Amino acid sequence: MAKSLSPSRPFHYPQPGEALYCGTVSIEKLARRHGTPLYVYSADQIVERLKLFQSALAGREHLVCYAVKANSSLAILKLLAGHGAGFDIVSGGELERVLAAAPEAAGRVVFSGAGKTAAEIDLALEADILEFNAESEAELELIASRARRMKKRARFALRVNPDVFAETHPYISTGLTEHKFGVEIGKAAAIYKRVASNRWLEPHGVSVHIGSQIRSSAPFGGAAERVYKLVKQLKRAGIELRNLDAGGGLGIEYHAAPFDAAAKVAEWAKAVTCAIDGFEGRLLLEPGRFLVANAGALLARVLYVKRNGSKTFVITDGAMNDLIRPALYEAHHEIVPVRPRAGKPKVVDVVGPICESGDFFAHDRALPPLEPGDLVAILDAGAYGMAQSSNYNTRLRPAEVLVEAGKPRLIRRRETIADLLGPEIA
Ligand code: LLP
Repeated sequence: MAKSLSPSRPFHYPQPGEALYCGTVSIEKLARRHGTPLYVYSADQIVERLKLFQSALAGREHLVCYAVKANSSLAILKLLAGHGAGFDIVSGGELERVLAAAPEAAGRVVFSGAGKTAAEIDLALEADILEFNAESEAELELIASRARRMKKRARFALRVNPDVFAETHPYISTGLTEHKFGVEIGKAAAIYKRVASNRWLEPHGVSVHIGSQIRSSAPFGGAAERVYKLVKQLKRAGIELRNLDAGGGLGIEYHAAPFDAAAKVAEWAKAVTCAIDGFEGRLLLEPGRFLVANAGALLARVLYVKRNGSKTFVITDGAMNDLIRPALYEAHHEIVPVRPRAGKPKVVDVVGPICESGDFFAHDRALPPLEPGDLVAILDAGAYGMAQSSNYNTRLRPAEVLVEAGKPRLIRRRETIADLLGPEIA
C-alpha cells in the first residue's frame, strides 16, 4: 500500500486498494489515452495557490506576476491571466508566450534577466509592458536608446542585489554580491539619480529576487527591508517609486512531510509587508514554483526491473530529459505507484533509459513492489519540469494534460519525430 499523499497535492487514492486520481480523474485512464511519459496538472490547485497570495495581500495594492519560467505552457498562462495574474518574464520568447496566451495581460508584465538583447527590449517596448527589471547600468543605457528610437518612455525598476543569504541550493541562490544578478544595493541610489534626467527612462520601481526554493520567510523580510530603505532614500531625493517588487522564491515541501501552503503564504506576506510598513505604492511579487510545483506530476511506465550487483533498478520510459531536477540539483521528488501492489517495500533506484548515470529520478528509495507495465507518478513536477525538458537522446518531449473542474484536457500533444527533424538541414 502506498502512503497516503499530503493534502497539499492534488493527487490521491480515493479508497484503499484503488488507483491514483487527480481530483476526480483516473490517472490510469489518462495514461491509456495519452501515453507516457505524461505531465498531468491540476488547474484547480494552481488557481487556489494564486488566490492564497491575492487574499493574503488583499489589504494593499499588489500584483502577482507569475514567473513564466517555472511552467510556460500557454494553457497555464491563460488560466492564471484569467484570474488576474501578471507575469515575470526573462526572454522575448516568454513575452511571445504571454502575448499568445493572454494579450490583454501585456500591461501586467515585468521583464527580468541579466542579458536582455536589443530585439527583446524592442518587443517589450512595443507590447508596452509594465516595467523592465533592469540589472545593470549598461542595460539601462540600451533600454534608453531603444526607447528613443521608438519615441516611447520605458518604465524601469532597478533589480538590486541586497546581499542577503538565502539558504538554498547554490545553483538557485541569487541574492549575494558574488552572484551575477542585479546591481549592488549600495550603488543603486546613484544610478537612479544619474538616469533621472533621461527623458526616455521613467524610474518606476525597484525589484529584488534572492533565490528559489527558500523555505524560511526571514530572508524575504530582510531583503524587503533593505529595498524599502532605498525607496525612502530615493523619495527624499525626489525620486518616487510606484512599485516594489519582492521577487519570487518561496519554497514548497518536496518530501512526504505535511505542508500547509496557506500558512506559508501568510508567513511570507507578514514578513514582507512588515518590512515595508509605510510603503504606499504597489507590491509586486514573482512566485513561480509555489503556484505550479505541487499541482503537477510526471507519469511514467515501468519498462524493466533489473538487478545489478546489490542494486535493483526500476527502468521507466520517463527520463532526465523529461525532468532534469534530480540530475541537476540532486532534487528529491516523491514517487508513488499509480496502482499500489501489496507486498513489502523494496529499496530501488528509479531511472530512465538515457545513456548517463545522471539519468535517475531516485536513488535507494523504498517503494512498494513494482513490475514492468506498472505506472508511477513522480510528484511535485509542475515547476521546472516540462519547462526544463529537452530532446536529449532524440527523445520526444511528453504530452501535457490539464485537469480543470474534473475535466482533463490535452494542452500539448506529444512531439513527433517530424517536430524534431523539421529545422535540420542534412
Ligand atoms: N523571479 C526571478 C527574477 C527569478 O529568477 C525566478 C527564478 C523567479 C522569480 C521564480 O522563482 P520561484 O518562485 O519559482 O522560486 N530550475 C530551478 C529553479 C530556478 C529558479 C530561477 N529563478 C529548480 O528547478 O529548482
